[in-house]
Amino acid sequence: MSSFIPGFNNTLNPKAQFYLELAGDCASLLEGQRNLVTNTANISSLVYHSLLETPTRKGKPVNWVGFYLMDSKKSDSLILGPFQGRPACTEIALGKGVCGTAAKDQCTVVVADVHKFPGHISCDAASKSEIVVPLRADDGRVHGVFDIDASELDAFDDYDRMGLEAITKMVVEASDFE
Ligand code: SME
Repeated sequence: MSSFIPGFNNTLNPKAQFYLELAGDCASLLEGQRNLVTNTANISSLVYHSLLETPTRKGKPVNWVGFYLMDSKKSDSLILGPFQGRPACTEIALGKGVCGTAAKDQCTVVVADVHKFPGHISCDAASKSEIVVPLRADDGRVHGVFDIDASELDAFDDYDRMGLEAITKMVVEASDFE
């Protein structure tokens, strides 16, 4: 499994180096395992603790890292999957909140201030900024989203977006979906 991240390999940017290393660790965790729950559980834990421990995030702590997956019983709804952090809302309709919007529009949504995002769904009052990446397969199907919250404003930049998109792509390639 490739942990290559376009544009990261020829930069000495500490955050790019952090994500290259993290992607490598994710590849090791995903190696030989195709179970979706198992993979999303382990990746939630690894990414949560790595983002908390890395000095490259200078006082921008994350407070929630996890997955919402397409509900096999309701085609227009996401259901809470494995995560790290405080208990969260269990179902999100497509087009609702940051998660539902990213899934419906099939694109990463970066929110600098969740209180300024119309329809933001607040699960943890500590959340101030957020990034949500769709689990998009090569056939165009969206299988869910990878959601990360931080307890500081404007906590996610382009390196976070590209790094988390690469990790999400690895999870999609390594896992079996219904
Ligand atoms: N804030 C998300 C809901 C999930 S919590 O962040 C875990 C949203 O607006 O979709």
